[in-house]
Amino acid sequence: MSAGQRPGDHAQVPSQAQVPSHVAVIMDGNGRWAQLRGFPRQEGHRRGLEALRRTVKNAADLGIEFLTLYSFSTENWRRPATEVSFLMGLLRRFVEKDLAELDASNVRVRIIGGRSDLAPDLRMLVEHAEAMTRDNTGMTLVIAFNYGSRDEITRVARQLAADAAAGRIAPDAIDEAAISARLDTAEMPDPQLVIRTSGETRISNFLLWQAAYAEFVFTPVLWPDFDRAALEEALAEYRRRERRFGGLSEPTDRSVGAA
Ligand code: IPE
Ligand code: IPE
Ligand code: MG
Repeated sequence: MSAGQRPGDHAQVPSQAQVPSHVAVIMDGNGRWAQLRGFPRQEGHRRGLEALRRTVKNAADLGIEFLTLYSFSTENWRRPATEVSFLMGLLRRFVEKDLAELDASNVRVRIIGGRSDLAPDLRMLVEHAEAMTRDNTGMTLVIAFNYGSRDEITRVARQLAADAAAGRIAPDAIDEAAISARLDTAEMPDPQLVIRTSGETRISNFLLWQAAYAEFVFTPVLWPDFDRAALEEALAEYRRRERRFGGLSEPTDRSVGAA
């Protein structure tokens, strides 16, 4: 490591050109993983947390700069109260137990999603995790908790309306950048790759604005089984994709112009 470098600094990682800077994951299939084995759903969530820890290490290792993990959606409140409180407890324990190690690994932690519905102690933990790791320079780990895109965009709309009503912003000044800057993901690049495990092929209210041009990779692997090979396979699939952003791929440009 050269002078001034810290563990996990991106300059250390070779061949990162082919690795997307921001990978987001819809971690799905914990319940089915447990059901297949005759375990209670909670066991699936526990094993899911192990997969999360593994994935954080693997992603940092592979040179991913931002890793966003969908942990609890605004719709997940519809689950039985016992499951909801188990999932809350899991986040609490994750922050309490893993924060020191994440910090030592130079990981910056951010939590996106609505904060006002969280228990006060959980909110304080989350704020503490962010404050403690704010100046770290390695991978940014973004936990989407009580997150829903519609909720996030609605909060932005409310804030912009209040600013406009108070004369702090002119309606004409509301552009895409003004919206992006007020999303929970402000100052983060959009994800180039969104992975969903467990074979489901829907977005479930995740990063609707930010993933406008993301590549989606759906894998049948259930989240507790997601490992290094599964992550590398998703990255390989991403590299095979052609991203066009509404334009044309290079070789066909001229044929269209001539038509
Ligand atoms: C993902 O696993 C974890 C959360 C949504 C919190 P699920 O709990 O959705 O697992 P399945 O979809 O029932 O298998
Ligand atoms: C999406 O999974 C939310 C998370 C992974 C946290 P769900 O299991 O809640 O999604 P649906 O209900 O199958 O769409
Ligand atoms: Mg599910």
